[in-house]
Amino acid sequence: MKMATRLIGGILTSATFWFIIILSVTMIWYGGKHWSNRKNTAFSLFTWTRPYMTSKNITLGEQPTNNYNDLMQQNRLAEVKREFLDLSLTNETMYPANRTGNYIFSNPNVCKDVSNIDFIIIVHTAPTQFERRQRIRATFANTSLFYPAQIRAAFLLGITTDSKLTEMLWREHRTYNDTVMGDFIDDYHNLTLKGVMGLRWVKDHCPNAAFVLKIDDDVVINMFALVHLFLPQMKAMKRTIFCMVLFNGTMFVHRTGKWKVDSHILPNRTHYPFSYCTGFAVILTPDLINELYQAANVSPFFWIDDVYLFGVLPYVIGNINFTHCEFNIFLPESYKKAVNCTLPQKMAIPMFSLHLHDRDFWTCWYQMKSEQQS
Ligand SMILES: *[C@@H]1O[C@H](CO)[C@@H](O)[C@H](O)[C@H]1NC(C)=O
Ligand SMILES: *[C@@H]1O[C@H](CO)[C@@H](O)[C@H](O)[C@H]1NC(C)=O
Ligand SMILES: *[C@@H]1O[C@H](CO)[C@@H](O)[C@H](O)[C@H]1NC(C)=O
Ligand SMILES: *[C@@H]1O[C@H](CO)[C@@H](O)[C@H](O)[C@H]1NC(C)=O
Ligand SMILES: *[C@@H]1O[C@H](CO)[C@@H](O)[C@H](O)[C@H]1NC(C)=O
Ligand SMILES: *[C@@H]1O[C@H](CO)[C@@H](O)[C@H](O)[C@H]1NC(C)=O
Ligand SMILES: *[C@@H]1O[C@H](CO)[C@@H](O)[C@H](O)[C@H]1NC(C)=O
Ligand SMILES: *[C@@H]1O[C@H](CO)[C@@H](O)[C@H](O)[C@H]1NC(C)=O
Ligand SMILES: *[C@@H]1O[C@H](CO)[C@@H](O)[C@H](O)[C@H]1NC(C)=O
Ligand SMILES: *[C@@H]1O[C@H](CO)[C@@H](O)[C@H](O)[C@H]1NC(C)=O
Repeated sequence: MKMATRLIGGILTSATFWFIIILSVTMIWYGGKHWSNRKNTAFSLFTWTRPYMTSKNITLGEQPTNNYNDLMQQNRLAEVKREFLDLSLTNETMYPANRTGNYIFSNPNVCKDVSNIDFIIIVHTAPTQFERRQRIRATFANTSLFYPAQIRAAFLLGITTDSKLTEMLWREHRTYNDTVMGDFIDDYHNLTLKGVMGLRWVKDHCPNAAFVLKIDDDVVINMFALVHLFLPQMKAMKRTIFCMVLFNGTMFVHRTGKWKVDSHILPNRTHYPFSYCTGFAVILTPDLINELYQAANVSPFFWIDDVYLFGVLPYVIGNINFTHCEFNIFLPESYKKAVNCTLPQKMAIPMFSLHLHDRDFWTCWYQMKSEQQS
């Protein structure tokens, strides 16, 4: 008994105890303040007028060249093959366009019920993400919300060995008719194949789209802004990729960790020697799709899909405009990644998209929707 009293007394007088108490109170106070800040910061995409928003000058990843020709393309392809050490791999079956196989299921008629589609949305999605696909169908891919604009979506999947999951995917396909499954294992390291399958699918089944929007399934995009602001301004653009451009010579080639690249690939490089896009939301003009797909028939596989699809392939093709869309890093935490593009004409065009936590999806969406209506 005496022992216990002494112990409690000891605890109450110990510096550590009071330190922990003070620390906890501070954290609760700070956390509460932080939280209420977040709640008070109205997420206003159209009316965001904070003075610290910087307007950026035009940034083109690559200057259009008029003397572009086949020779340049051949040289670049040779360079890419050298850098990606294609030499030991002498057969075409390794090229991504050759590895996507037949479709397990697909719907070739997604874009065929009207003559012109405004946006075909290509969603890179993981087999298990039924809810994310469902919320995309209900929101920015729901064409009836944007009439008279025509929006279509195709969700790209690979195969899975889980038979119950496969059965569910078939059922989903029969219900919504908007999923496409390729004959490759759905794996993080196979996303390049998924992307190339998307190029092929658009080329074959949706050539009548004004823009191709590639997104990941954990993204929300302001389709209202795209339809009402982006579309009318950008319809005349040619050979252009809109994205957050990661410029030539600025991005590390990681040799360890999640983005590990084997040492025999880009052997003498510390940085990627070409520009590429952060791939979570990328808009392409449709004139590029076939060329990108053809380039994927000859350019060696590289597993990081953003680098391959929006870096290696455009580099090999050449003469492509990158239009840079800046991340707004000053936005509140969960809305950090709203995107604005700056065009050569110094016009800023909103292409708001956010890479987000599932819990924030509906808040963002309703905000976008209400701003559209006001
Ligand atoms: C934009 O370019 C102009 C002219 O080159 C330059 O004076 C200005 O400082 C630039 N602004 C930014 C934000 O880089
Ligand atoms: C990398 O450097 C080594 C040694 O200088 C050279 O032999 C090799 O060809 C280089 N590789 C590439 C892809 O440039
Ligand atoms: C291509 O490579 C694969 C795997 O190394 C091999 O199985 C196949 O026979 C090769 N095909 C040709 C035409 O060389
Ligand atoms: C893939 O490669 C094989 C042999 O290398 C070739 O016969 C076939 O036409 C290629 N398929 C495509 C879709 O390019
Ligand atoms: C899916 O689309 C295909 C091709 O248009 C059509 O034949 C099929 O009936 C559709 N299935 C459903 C369930 O709507
Ligand atoms: C698309 O929007 C319309 C109109 O708001 C709604 O009736 C329909 O249920 C939505 N579709 C989906 C798949 O949620
Ligand atoms: C990618 O898909 C191919 C074809 O199904 C498969 O052989 C390969 O193992 C897959 N890669 C990974 C990392 O799962
Ligand atoms: C890049 O975009 C501008 C503006 O639309 C266009 O004039 C130019 O032709 C494009 N460049 C190429 C290589 O197509
Ligand atoms: C990348 O940057 C290097 C050095 O600045 C330059 O030599 C090279 O031409 C650039 N490549 C492209 C595709 O812009
Ligand atoms: C995007 O650009 C437009 C036009 O300059 C501007 O009105 C808007 O506030 C910007 N939005 C964000 C989130 O930066």
